Amino acid sequence: MKEFESKIKTVEWKDNYSKMVDQTLLPEEFKYVNITSGQQMYDAIKSMIVRGAPAIGVSGAHGVALYAQELQKENLSKDEFISKLLEKADYMATSRPTAVNLMWAVEKQKNIIKNSKSDINGIVNELKENCIKLENEDISINKKIGEYGSEVVPKGATILTHCNAGALATVGYGTALGVVRSAYAKDPTIQVFADETRPRQQGARITTLELTMDGIPTTLITDGMCSYFMKKGMIDMVIVGADRIAANGDTANKIGTYTVAIAAKYHNVPFYVAAPLSTIDTSIKSGDEIVIEERSREEVTHINGKIICSPDVNIINPGFDVTPHNLISGIITEKGILRADYNKSISEAFKK
Ligand code: MRU
Repeated sequence: MKEFESKIKTVEWKDNYSKMVDQTLLPEEFKYVNITSGQQMYDAIKSMIVRGAPAIGVSGAHGVALYAQELQKENLSKDEFISKLLEKADYMATSRPTAVNLMWAVEKQKNIIKNSKSDINGIVNELKENCIKLENEDISINKKIGEYGSEVVPKGATILTHCNAGALATVGYGTALGVVRSAYAKDPTIQVFADETRPRQQGARITTLELTMDGIPTTLITDGMCSYFMKKGMIDMVIVGADRIAANGDTANKIGTYTVAIAAKYHNVPFYVAAPLSTIDTSIKSGDEIVIEERSREEVTHINGKIICSPDVNIINPGFDVTPHNLISGIITEKGILRADYNKSISEAFKK
């Protein structure tokens, strides 16, 4: 079938609106939604209709283009248009706090707004063209990540992944699951173990769906099971995505990733992060500076609208955790696989 690899685009600019898969409905319903205003895009990112760092980034860029179209109708001077649009862009960048790809992509749009020599109509067109450029770049970067990553996947490997860093977390193909796709194309004896990923179950709802739709053998496990299978020697490597990587290689990813990394270190299982350079935030020295999103109580107290605990219990719900760089075997990027010392390898990757 290979639907995700070849046919499905998670988010796509369509002339004057953005079309995306509504990921809150997966896996029961596979439905596209059209996002036609800047505010609607802000809400789509916040409510996780679209999620996954690179997909959020591209969507943020779409959001700025949507705001530009709205302001285009307001009869503003070019200076007024620019200053209002820059404010809207900054607002769009606050729709989620941890994935740096959002700020990165919005910044790309802001550079066009600030530096364009065109009139208002010209700026709007440049912003729309940049949406399509970012989409195409995302897919080609993921294919490069896949190619580099496939070189470190052993023959017949069982790969554990956490959350969803797949086609549905990007425009297409995926980062961690891009490595899986590239490795599977060369060696169809590999398989994937997918962590469920509570509270929002991206592993269960999204990763298992996209991998099985592409015919890749996949086993779903719950989050507490990874050490059990590592001890049994059933996991050959871990590959996860990332939401923000600091200059020293510390990596923020979905809550629970850190636990998997500790278990992998203990059992001598290689632990890889797969991410584009746009996920690396060289402005921060370490993971201590990464803002961790706090999400709602209901994500933990309820599953599919049903309460699963005492309604009076206390809840804390951080969306991400930070895996320290010394637990990471390598960071697979479009410029190759970066290894420790990460300060050095990361800064060199940006010069390539
Ligand atoms: O809260 P989410 O679903 O947006 O979190 C997604 C993740 O943590 C992914 O692993 C990460 O964004 C990398 S996606 C290529």
